[in-house]
Amino acid sequence: MAEKAFKYVIIGGGVAAGYAAREFANQGVKPGELAIFSKEAVAPYERPALSKAYLFPEGTARLPGFHVCVGSGGERLLPEWYAEKGISLILNTEVVKANLASKTLISAAGETFKYQILIIATGSTVVRLSDFGVQGADAKNIFYLREIDDADKLVEVIKAKKNGNALVVGGGYIGLELSAALKINNIDVSMVYPEPWCMPRLFTAELAGFYEGYYANKGIKIIKGTVATGFGTNENGEVTDVKLKDGRVMEADIVVVGVGGRPVTKLFKGQVEEEKGGIKTDGFFKTSVPDVYAVGDVATFPMKLYNEMRRVEHVDHARKSAEQAVKAIFSCEQGNSIDEYDYLPFFYSRAFDLSWQFYGDNVGETVFYGDGSLTSPTHKFGSYWIKDGKVVGAFLEGGTPEENKAIAKVARVQPPAHSLDQLATEGLTFACKV
Ligand code: FDA
Ligand code: NAD
Repeated sequence: MAEKAFKYVIIGGGVAAGYAAREFANQGVKPGELAIFSKEAVAPYERPALSKAYLFPEGTARLPGFHVCVGSGGERLLPEWYAEKGISLILNTEVVKANLASKTLISAAGETFKYQILIIATGSTVVRLSDFGVQGADAKNIFYLREIDDADKLVEVIKAKKNGNALVVGGGYIGLELSAALKINNIDVSMVYPEPWCMPRLFTAELAGFYEGYYANKGIKIIKGTVATGFGTNENGEVTDVKLKDGRVMEADIVVVGVGGRPVTKLFKGQVEEEKGGIKTDGFFKTSVPDVYAVGDVATFPMKLYNEMRRVEHVDHARKSAEQAVKAIFSCEQGNSIDEYDYLPFFYSRAFDLSWQFYGDNVGETVFYGDGSLTSPTHKFGSYWIKDGKVVGAFLEGGTPEENKAIAKVARVQPPAHSLDQLATEGLTFACKV
């Protein structure tokens, strides 16, 4: 087959690829210079919608409504936009081989592509229960959620199993957001996770206590401290029940699994330096291989604020790292320089009528503030994280845009915390004064 060549290639057609494409256009990329390879069938979209409005019975989100860059208030890049800019959006095409030394890529269909500069934006894939050898984990109606095809399967089963019984495995982002979405669709939901409280990688026990209580009031059963060890099936191979390690057996005709993500780096193994499970980059997202950049979920980059190498699996970083890499590529070509990436971690989630934001680092001592009572008409509370006498992280449920800006500023400025009691008493007022 004939070989095609592009000046710039992005592998991956997710959030980072979409924001990179917009930045390429801003920087004046010429028609024919850029190609984006995506194994998905659609142009880059705002992935967070898949676990939220995509699954809702009302106010449902569907493409083309949530193509990038609407998630950050920007222009919506429809497939026509790429065509107008002369950017080759090569969909339904998985890159199955990458040779970074010869700058050659091979697609699943056997086509060969050459590039001068490569951006790796392959994102994450789901961790599967079969990875831990859970018996029966390949039964029908066990679902994972990463791409739009997965979300379509969930939409179908939600319709097919009206008033059904779902068991959600995992108490992280997917577990909490999907449990809410299923419940809103009138499905009976139970959640199971091994830890003593939900979202342990971020929540304190007090924060988790509120969300668990709120979910319980919505009728969601929460089973903690155990894991799924096997699945029973009917004669059609459909899941009927879930066996738990503690001996319980739960009926379920839908199982949704969210037990973590894993960066997609396999194509590049042994060719590029890795660190902390991701592809190691500098503050411009350059990897150890000349002319190869890595952005989004796959990049382990210097988090300047904490003087540490980190990998971040959240959308804000996917957008910003992509923009930084493209700016770095063009500044390099023009012999200019740009500032190193100086990222302030930002995570958020929404479920039911709840909405929280977190900025900074969740390390050190914690202080809970505000009204975390389940019966309160307004849910406005949060937490500060304090390390070496400074406030380094801030969480807020139910904040206004101004209040969220205030906690972001706290995490960036890291003001001194004179007394934990005072912080707890002042609560949000403390943030608003910074
Ligand atoms: P992303 O996963 O977006 O894109 C990777 C792309 O590469 C995919 O299209 C994939 O098919 C493609 N690909 C991989 N290998 C390939 C190959 N060999 N050839 C061709 N294509 C290939 N974050 C947040 O901050 N707030 C939120 O509310 C949410 N919500 C959320 C919901 C759901 C359901 C998920 C799965 C994730 C979130 N996230 C989130 C996380 C956020 O979406 C995630 O961090 C970004 O999408 C990462 O962007 P990337 O571009 O790095 O990967
Ligand atoms: P996660 O890391 O947030 O949560 C994984 C959870 O799996 C853990 O909290 C734990 O409770 C559970 N777990 C681990 N092993 C288990 C086992 N054997 N049995 C039962 N539970 C087990 O990962 P996720 O929720 O799967 O999310 C996947 C990816 O999608 C992540 O990158 C996440 O950042 C991203 N995501 C982000 C958002 C958001 O930022 N709002 C929303 C959805 C997805």
